[in-house]
Order: sequence, then C-alpha cells, then structure tokens
Amino acid sequence: LARGAAPADLSGRHVVVSAGGTREPLDPVRYLGNRSSGKQGYALARTAAARGARVTLVAANTALPDPAGVHVVPVGTAVELRERVLEAAGDADAVVMAAAVADFRPAAYATGKIKKQEGRDPEPVALVRNPDVLAEVAGDRTRPGQVVVGFAAETDDVLANGRAKLVRKGCDLLVVNEVGERRTFGAEENEAVVLGADGSETPVPHGPKEALADTVWDLVRDRFPRS
Ligand code: CTP
Ligand code: CA
Repeated sequence: LARGAAPADLSGRHVVVSAGGTREPLDPVRYLGNRSSGKQGYALARTAAARGARVTLVAANTALPDPAGVHVVPVGTAVELRERVLEAAGDADAVVMAAAVADFRPAAYATGKIKKQEGRDPEPVALVRNPDVLAEVAGDRTRPGQVVVGFAAETDDVLANGRAKLVRKGCDLLVVNEVGERRTFGAEENEAVVLGADGSETPVPHGPKEALADTVWDLVRDRFPRS
C-alpha cells in the first residue's frame, strides 16, 4: 500500500496500543528496566490513526514525539501500565501489547536512597512477579469480539516457543521476532512472523516497523466481527 493512500478501514474503531518498556523502582534514583525504545508501538499507533482508528497509546518511558491525533497516556511501572491498559480496553475493539513489561519488580521500595555500608556486602535484591497484562486482557474480553495481540522476542525454536506462548496468553495474534546477532532494540526495521490462534502464520519480511504495523492491522481488521 502506498504511503499517504491509507484506507480508512479502521474508522469507527478504538484501538489500544502499549509501547516502550516499564521501569520498576528500587529507590528514588534507581530502577530495573529494559531496552525497548517504543518505536514499534509508536509505528502501530501512527498507522492505526492513519487508517482512521481512534488510538490510545499507553507509553512506558519512551522518548519519542507524540504521534499526531493519538491519545498518549504515559506510564512508568508494570502496575501502572496494567491499570491504564485495562481502563482503555473497556471499550476497545483491539488491544496490541507492544510494550516490554518487566516480569519482576523489587519486592520493596526504599523511600530513601540506598547507601553503601562500609565493609559490608550489599543486600540481595528480592523480586516479586508483576501481573501479566496481556493474559489478563485476553482472559477478560470486556468487549465482545475484541481482538488481542501480543509481541514476543524469542531465541532457539522461535516458532514453537511462539506457538506455546500464544496459547498460554490466550491472545488472537502473536507477533514473534527472532532475537540474536541482529538485535531489534532501537532499530528502525524489523522482521517477524505473526502467529494466529486459528493456526495461521504470516511471515513479514525485513522492513520498516510501519510495514509490520500495517500487516498487524490487516490481520486485526480481518478478525473483527462483521458489523
Ligand atoms: N506481557 C504482559 N505482561 C507481563 C509480561 C509480558 O502483558 N507481565 C506481554 C508483552 O507486552 C508481550 C507478551 O506479553 O506482548 C509477551 O511478552 P514476553 O515477555 O515474551 O512473555 P512472558 O510470558 O513474560 O514470557 P518470558 O518468560 O519468555 O519472558
Ligand atoms: Ca517477559
């Protein structure tokens, strides 16, 4: 599809996209984080808006300009992201979880900066599990016919791992990236396979994140119930 000639095939739809990476604070100056740039999520938000959707972008710690015509909801932690995504998902036709959500957070938050102790080893950092937002959204389906999409970066047996994760999460589509030598963190381009709960497999060749985003929206649109 030529740029600037986007069809309005998502008009009248509300879509929720999460992007970026959560940060889990240890004390007022430190956090556990990850290297997600948010670029794929922003590309999804931009392309959905260009195709006529109302877009809520739940953005975790991104340093990217707000896409025009998109409602941006900034969040920090996984717990905040969960709240905002569930809130927006209430009337959403689709939810796409492109954010890297931290699996764990520090069990305790120190309200004062953690200091070194002379002649003493540091305390180990105890972690607890974060909620699984994708599994929760997919299990809830507050709106009938809502389409739920996850992302996964895998190594080794990429497709088998992806297939198992799709089933475990209960989502309709899972976009699987192979990670390794050529990392996708911060890159402008991406390459993936989109797995469907219906058994479908859609390879997306190496290319701009917008192209992958458009393929995701094509697959989402095809799964909307007839209205
Ligand atoms: N995800 C989520 N909440 C979490 C962790 C992940 O919503 N606490 C979502 C991500 O946004 C992504 C999908 O689940 O869309 C897959 O994330 P991934 O980290 O690959 O899944 P995990 O179940 O955490 O598996 P792993 O142990 O391989 O990290
Ligand atoms: Ca994870």
